[in-house]
Amino acid sequence: MLSVKGLHKSYGKLEILKGVDFEVKQGEIVSIVGASGAGKSTLLHIIGALDKADAGKVVVNGKDIHRMDAKELSDFRNKHIGFIFQFHHLLPEFTAVENVCMPAFIAGKSKKETEVRAMELLTLLGVEQRASHKPEALSGGEQQRVAIARALMNNPAIVLADEPSGNLDSENAAALHQLFVDLRDKLHQTFVIVTHNEELARISDRTVLMKDGLIVLD
Ligand SMILES: Nc1ncnc2c1ncn2[C@@H]1O[C@H](COP(=O)(O)OP(=O)(O)O)[C@@H](O)[C@H]1O
Ligand SMILES: [Mg+2]
Repeated sequence: MLSVKGLHKSYGKLEILKGVDFEVKQGEIVSIVGASGAGKSTLLHIIGALDKADAGKVVVNGKDIHRMDAKELSDFRNKHIGFIFQFHHLLPEFTAVENVCMPAFIAGKSKKETEVRAMELLTLLGVEQRASHKPEALSGGEQQRVAIARALMNNPAIVLADEPSGNLDSENAAALHQLFVDLRDKLHQTFVIVTHNEELARISDRTVLMKDGLIVLD
C-alpha cells in the first residue's frame, strides 16, 4: 500500500531525513516511534503529500506522488489519504456530521450518498448520537472519533496519524487505540501512526524506530 525509497529532506543546512526506506502492507498498523526531532512528523507529512521530499520516491497504492502537480496532489490527498492529528482540527462552525461530510463534498460526491455514509461512519465509531453537535460540545475522545470518521470518509488507502492520542487521558487513549485495531480488522484499513504511546506501539503490527533522520529498527 505504501513504498518509500531513499527519502531525503533538508531544511536549509539541517538534514532531517537521511535516506528513509519503508514499506507498509494493506491492513497493517505501523507505528513510528523515536525521540522528538527524529523526523517522524516530517516523514508523515511527505508520505501524505503535505510536504515535498528533496530526493527519493513515495508510492501510495501504486501512485507515484512525486510525479504529480499541485492540483493532482490536493486531489490525491483528498481521495487517498486520511489524516488524524493530535488536535482534532474539526471546523468549529460545523456540526460533527457536517465535518465528516466535508471531504466527500470536496471530492464532488452527492449530498444524499455522503450523508448516509457519514452517519454510518459515526455509528461505526460509536458517536452517532453526537452527529448534530458542534465540536465544542463534544468531549476530547468524541472529537477524535469524529476526526477519524472524517479521515475515513473517502475510503483512503492509508490513514496517517500524528500523536492521535497525545491529547487524551489514558482511558480515552486506550479506547482510541482499540478503534484502530477494530478498523483494521473490519475494514482492512491501513494505518501509519506516529506515537509516543507505548501501549499503541505494542498493539501495532509493526513498530519502526526513527533516530536522527533514519529508520534504525523495524
Ligand atoms: N518547516 C520546517 N522548517 C525548519 N525546520 C523544521 C521544519 N519542520 C521540522 N523542522 C525540524 O526538523 C526536525 C525534525 O522535526 P519533526 O519531523 O517534526 O520531528 P519529530 O516529529 O520526530 O519530533 C526538527 O529539528 C525540527 O525543528
Ligand atoms: Mg512530530
